[in-house]
Amino acid sequence: MSDRLKIVVFGANGLLGRGLVKQLGPRHAVSAFPREQVDITDQSAVLQTLEDAAADVVLNCAGFLNVDRCEKEPERSHRVNGLGPVRLAKAIGRMKTENKPLLFHFSTDFVFDGAKGAYKEEDIARPLSYYGTHKIVADEFLLNCGLRDFYILRTASLLCNVEGRDNFAKRMLTLAAEKPFLQIVDDLKISMVTLEVLAWFVEQMLELRPESGLYNAVCGGITTWNAILQTVFKELNVDREIRAARIDAMPNAALRPRNSDLDVAKITRTLNAPAPFWEHAVADHVRANRESYAALYANAVQRASINLAASSK
Ligand SMILES: NC(=O)c1ccc[n+]([C@@H]2O[C@H](COP(=O)([O-])OP(=O)(O)OC[C@H]3O[C@@H](n4cnc5c(N)ncnc54)[C@H](OP(=O)(O)O)[C@@H]3O)[C@@H](O)[C@H]2O)c1
Repeated sequence: MSDRLKIVVFGANGLLGRGLVKQLGPRHAVSAFPREQVDITDQSAVLQTLEDAAADVVLNCAGFLNVDRCEKEPERSHRVNGLGPVRLAKAIGRMKTENKPLLFHFSTDFVFDGAKGAYKEEDIARPLSYYGTHKIVADEFLLNCGLRDFYILRTASLLCNVEGRDNFAKRMLTLAAEKPFLQIVDDLKISMVTLEVLAWFVEQMLELRPESGLYNAVCGGITTWNAILQTVFKELNVDREIRAARIDAMPNAALRPRNSDLDVAKITRTLNAPAPFWEHAVADHVRANRESYAALYANAVQRASINLAASSK
């Protein structure tokens, strides 16, 4: 177990930000900064915050994630996903202290076009979307800017349950209460990660302090959204038909990589421990969050039956 560290989290109101604050908070001194308090594109605000906090570690959880909205608002995506991490790294570079904080930044499988799958860290990125393009701009900068202590964790399809933020399981449980069947994409081959596994990767990196650089940080095995949902429903005993849908039938603005699974050999080797297999990780995640998912589903079922009764009057 690593010592108690002073950890600053930017983008702390987001899904991953809230999740990592929840997971790491009990073991470390975590200071959480949502966008309203620190905008990562504001270099002097970032610098001031890091100096005031005398941070050992910075977790950059800020981002503009909605891939379809990034297609419509490319300037915003460029500013947040591209320039944001650049300014953050520059702020660290300008800190006067000898002991500059270790930076964690989170990248994405969307930097790939999905033509081949099993992507390794050194594979060439060919993004299909503005989101992927701007994320790779930041990754390349961090890898080449001379920053000494940093980890880019390239992750994908996060399943994270925190209060106040929606997630895939919550959305699907709500729909399951309302509809006789669900149609979920099953022709995109993806990697996924749960909050619990991603937080474990972060803790392990803090403990072992391997070489700075880029690490694929997802669960082992290839999956689909359809298979993830089957696992969630099975664990929660939700009996609702899940039909297979094709991504082409969905009204998306951004192209998605068809086969974007990430190879976990490097992180497995580095941590000397296997990345947990996705199906076990999803089952563990549901068990750890069973009460909250079950309550959400029960409320949604109750709401749906009230609505049905009202509409049949
Ligand atoms: N979720 C995934 O499946 C996934 C997969 C791969 C990689 N990642 C990466 O993980 C990171 C976190 O993603 P997430 O899922 O937590 O996304 P999220 O839920 O959308 O959270 C992103 C947070 O960043 C904040 N933010 C936006 N612009 C900012 C700025 N200029 N300065 C400071 N904060 C800003 C947002 O604040 P507002 O809400 O107030 O705008 C939001 O709270 C991102 O780098 C993302 O690319 C996520």
